[in-house]
Amino acid sequence: MSEAAVRYAGVYDAALSADRFSDHQLPGDHWADLAELFRLDPTRPKDANLLAVADYLEPTDVFLDVGGGAGRVSLALADCVSEVALIEPSAGMREQFIAARDEAGITNTRIATDWWMDSDETGDVIHLSDVTYFVRDIVPFVTKLHNSARRRVMIAVWRPTPGDMGSDLREIVLGETRPHWPGLPELAGVLWEMGLLPEIRPLPDEPWWLTEEERHLSGAEATDLAMRWFGSEDDAVRQAVASNLDRLFERSEGGLTPGWLSRPRAVLITWETHGRRLD
Ligand SMILES: C[S@@+](CC[C@H](N)C(=O)[O-])C[C@H]1O[C@@H](n2cnc3c(N)ncnc32)[C@H](O)[C@@H]1O
Repeated sequence: MSEAAVRYAGVYDAALSADRFSDHQLPGDHWADLAELFRLDPTRPKDANLLAVADYLEPTDVFLDVGGGAGRVSLALADCVSEVALIEPSAGMREQFIAARDEAGITNTRIATDWWMDSDETGDVIHLSDVTYFVRDIVPFVTKLHNSARRRVMIAVWRPTPGDMGSDLREIVLGETRPHWPGLPELAGVLWEMGLLPEIRPLPDEPWWLTEEERHLSGAEATDLAMRWFGSEDDAVRQAVASNLDRLFERSEGGLTPGWLSRPRAVLITWETHGRRLD
């Protein structure tokens, strides 16, 4: 294994040892409970992040969305391509994809249920968003993405990764540092060592998960939200949250916004395959 791949797996192992959620080796559909949250209206106006992906698409494209979830990205771009192919092993996510698709009257989709490494699917453009942190053995995974894409691969990652969103909070309030998930720095190192030279585009939109209510919290609501993130009712923790509100939240006329939820930004990592196969 290359140095960067070893580092990637090491970062993954350390993060997993602190947080079992992302262990896709565990049996069961652990996205089922979250799947509805990932379902957005496919007919919503395209925001800047969607438009950045759309820039690379052609009307004749098969857009293969690996780990595409409930179609948050792919269904919103279905009108830019000839076909959306979803690769999604989570039954809960697929159910939400189908519901969103049918409600929006989208008819140019195909669904495959395999894990990526077991899939035979190919596409003109292969896209994945918010998936690579869950993959330990990253080089064969990326090699297969590259070799299955007739024109382009697009990988979007959040920085910091969603699994690391609470780390800032813990560090400020509890002085506790946690291992982080493999994100942009680790992935970029791996791609470099694989001989790929991608474009790396930070995207501007605020995270889609930030709700309207979370943008305008009172001091008490803000403290309650942080406490829910800690899963704690401890008075000493509440005190520590209350005395750190200005470091944890951004203040505007409308109220307080949790920085750990609003600050992450997506980064699009993309390259053309030029018909060149990787070994
Ligand atoms: C955080 S969700 C992201 C869903 C969607 N891409 C989005 O951005 O809204 C991660 C998804 O990746 C899928 N996934 C994880 N590992 C995968 C793999 N090896 N092959 C295919 N899908 C995978 C999970 O089932 C889950 O639906």
